[in-house]
Amino acid sequence: MKLKTIRDIIIRDKTVLMRADFNVPIENGKILNDLRIRAVIPTLEFLRENGAKKIILISHLGRPEGRDEKLSLKPVAEILNKEIGRVEFINDVSGSDVEAAVEKMKAGEILLLENLRFYKGEEENSQDFIKRIIDSTGAEVFIQDGFAVLHRAHASTSAVAEILPTAAGLLVEKEILNLEKVLKNPARPLVLIVGGAKVEDKSPLIDKFVGIADKIIVGGKIAADGYEAKSDKIYVAEDFDEDGAGAKLDVGPVSTVEIAKFITDAKTIIWNGLLGKAEDMAYATSSTIVAEMMGEKTDAETIICGGDTTSFVESLLEDHPNLKYSLISTGGGASLEFLLGNELPGLVPLFMP
Ligand code: 3PG
Repeated sequence: MKLKTIRDIIIRDKTVLMRADFNVPIENGKILNDLRIRAVIPTLEFLRENGAKKIILISHLGRPEGRDEKLSLKPVAEILNKEIGRVEFINDVSGSDVEAAVEKMKAGEILLLENLRFYKGEEENSQDFIKRIIDSTGAEVFIQDGFAVLHRAHASTSAVAEILPTAAGLLVEKEILNLEKVLKNPARPLVLIVGGAKVEDKSPLIDKFVGIADKIIVGGKIAADGYEAKSDKIYVAEDFDEDGAGAKLDVGPVSTVEIAKFITDAKTIIWNGLLGKAEDMAYATSSTIVAEMMGEKTDAETIICGGDTTSFVESLLEDHPNLKYSLISTGGGASLEFLLGNELPGLVPLFMP
């Protein structure tokens, strides 16, 4: 099935409602990683270049129970404004203040509404809730660019598409095309590298990829805790760097050399989950080697996914901007669900009938 994208829908002179996933790590109003903000800029620029009249942005942030100023989207609007200009914020999602703010907007201006999850209608997938937003903003078209939230059936991912003509933004298109290629038509050998701490989170992925990948590498705490391979396709790290107390905190040199060989031969690599306790530089060696090797490869599709893994690669890129990846996925749960072959409720309305 083919995605209906922003190129398949009329946006000229329209008021566009766009969903992003600005669920970013934030501490005392300071955003610690802006990947998800930067990732939707191409879609916002596309909307401006193609004559969208007004752009109304919506998102959630965190899991608030009612209004919680610590989880306001205002700091996101400030970053966006610095990046692309003409971005305003309003601390509500519907009603007379929103109507007045939209009324004042000039062509190509962007208005970010407040955190959708301050209102229970969002998670209840309420038509009335999203309809109030649509009525207050005069939105005529819906663009879904919140890839990372597509696994949720909420008002801004599901109910909205029953009311407005709907299409995928450029980020959703890029993520889906890259991940779909891996599942349907990967260049081989296809190698999946899995790490992280919780075996219950990762074993469905490993099990699913036994039927898809040519090799699966298991590192991280999962391997250190003694993961038992159920297929000869699976290579489990065999040596570990330990701390003074004997805790296995990174994949060791013997296994890292082995993993490097698989990476060298691979034509598609998906990496989900750090191989060691990489927030401590002393135990970041194997993850750094994997990240660098993947980023230096020019003959392979390279996909980074999972929150910790993408943050790690993002911070490495600050000092090594030469590293290139096919996709640094903005999705945590969403990319995992997609790779598992599960239906994403927010993706369903984005396909051509
Ligand atoms: C995510 O970060 O996975 C998405 O933004 C969804 O957030 P949630 O898990 O709170 O629904």
